[in-house]
Amino acid sequence: MFPIRRNRRLRTNEAIRSLVRETYISPNDFLVPLFVVEGSGVKEEIISMPNYYRYSLDLLKDEIKILRSLGLKSVLLFVKVSDNLKNNKGTEALNPEGLMQRAIKTVKSVCPDMLVMTDVALDPFSSYGHDGIVEGGKIINDATVEVLAEMSISHAEAGADFVAPSDMMDGRILGIREALDQSNLIDVGIMSYSAKYASAFYGPFRDALDSAPVDIQDIPKDKKTYQMDSANREEAIRETEMDINEGADIVMVKPGLCYLDIVRDIRNSFDVPIAVYQVSGEYAMLKAAAEKGWLDHDAVMLEQIISIKRAGANIIASYFAKDVVKLIS
Ligand code: PBG
Repeated sequence: MFPIRRNRRLRTNEAIRSLVRETYISPNDFLVPLFVVEGSGVKEEIISMPNYYRYSLDLLKDEIKILRSLGLKSVLLFVKVSDNLKNNKGTEALNPEGLMQRAIKTVKSVCPDMLVMTDVALDPFSSYGHDGIVEGGKIINDATVEVLAEMSISHAEAGADFVAPSDMMDGRILGIREALDQSNLIDVGIMSYSAKYASAFYGPFRDALDSAPVDIQDIPKDKKTYQMDSANREEAIRETEMDINEGADIVMVKPGLCYLDIVRDIRNSFDVPIAVYQVSGEYAMLKAAAEKGWLDHDAVMLEQIISIKRAGANIIASYFAKDVVKLIS
């Protein structure tokens, strides 16, 4: 008899659909990116990221409590540093009383069980807006790795649980792991941005931190000499394998939606937790389309998050984390 199989039986109503559903999302899936600024009483909206804010440390405390009450237990910290503290070597990144170090302590003071991950890269501290030290028109690798290792120790000593190097220098995972171990910080983990592409989707983030590469003669105007070429797939496997071998506890693919083939490749190749960063441009696109009334914000948001998890992500860094959790609770 035709047709012998009727697949639509398993889609008849919500009860059967939920029985056979393969992917679920919960607060446990999320890592919440947070932007921190100096000052007090500051909660400023990022223009290209509607309904997303930079917080001063006092208001960060309230936000942390809100996140925790929603069941969100992990944050990823970024700081916006004032121009007068920036230089080519990003030395402010190593200041034990720097904004990042104080932000880590602030989160832990209001919520000791909140998992704190920190961004490790020079760009917010660099006068040139690069993730590493610039010399002779190049971003120099090995000297940068030394600073990243020191930065990681500084974050760990301030109380960070994980450091998250987002710079794409070669060998930085090993450099950081050895430095942490030599400082007896053996329990501090590394989430490596292992397949991070040179993407135009980072624009709103660079607005948020005022960290875009500068437009000065003889200084590279983009990050293509260290971040990956979006045309490359096999290379992502190579990058990820190296980071695992160098000691990464969690690997990451970034951006999210345009790179889900990479996520699935890595899921099929390695048995380690995979994080996906749904980046600022992805957030901005949906906000803009929804504002125009062209897309159903909540439905598209959920579909995107489900797709990222279905592709193989264990951890999703997303500016939508709070919205999603409110919607599904
Ligand atoms: C900095 C860093 C960037 C992002 C995370 N860490 C920007 C960049 O590499 O230029 C982007 C995140 C986003 O767009 O949401 N190393």
